[in-house]
Amino acid sequence: MKVGSRAQLEILADPEALACRVADWLLAISTARASVFTLVLSGGGTPRRLYELLAGPPYRDVFPWYRTHLFWGDERFVPRDDESSNYRMVREAMLSRAPIPATNIHPVPTEGLTPEAGALDYERELKSFYGAERLDRARPLFDVILLGLGPDGHTASLFPDTAVLEERERWVAAAVGPKPPTRITLTYPALESSRHVAFLVAGKEKREIFSRFQRGEHTLPAARLRPIGTLHLFADAAAARDMPP
Ligand code: 6PG
Repeated sequence: MKVGSRAQLEILADPEALACRVADWLLAISTARASVFTLVLSGGGTPRRLYELLAGPPYRDVFPWYRTHLFWGDERFVPRDDESSNYRMVREAMLSRAPIPATNIHPVPTEGLTPEAGALDYERELKSFYGAERLDRARPLFDVILLGLGPDGHTASLFPDTAVLEERERWVAAAVGPKPPTRITLTYPALESSRHVAFLVAGKEKREIFSRFQRGEHTLPAARLRPIGTLHLFADAAAARDMPP
């Protein structure tokens, strides 16, 4: 089934407009939640501006930080200060300025253990947060998951032709990309257990892959995601230009 026909697509003028729109969208969803708001962050360059916006006025002062819990969709297995760390990117762009309690921040463990042990630890943390060992479709694990679209159709650290794409039991797994370092990623079952999943796609270099993703090409890991909640595509005009009708 085409991704385009089961997703809500919004095309914004440019990356700045995209970041502003997604910030407003997140604010609306988070404030509508009565209690805890769980948000999964993506790495990559596209969401950085969104994270900066959320940590500045007006969002900084109205976002429900105290009841927001942050998780990561994937992480490179590097120390937290490494320049390729997704945690570090989010810390610099947002956490250093947003009034979020430290206990609400749930980074992927990457130090003092193996990638497999790190994945198991993170899965345990998610299960404890969720309060059950098995996912219930009637009670999604997350409220919102933010994702990116890689040039080869990967999302989080689910890369084409890798074993982790077949994982249906584990919530978190060690994963390989086209080059080191090893990564830790949420698997399809965890990424699908969300009230909303939003892809953020920007730039003309994404035009072709975004079009293939929209057509639902099965070889693209991003196109195989079947969230139990709503799927949103936020794209800028440069990425969306050659989209199929
Ligand atoms: C990462 C991501 C990855 C990313 C895409 C898109 O840590 O790199 O988790 O899945 O979202 O590669 O990245 P851009 O936003 O930089 O295009």
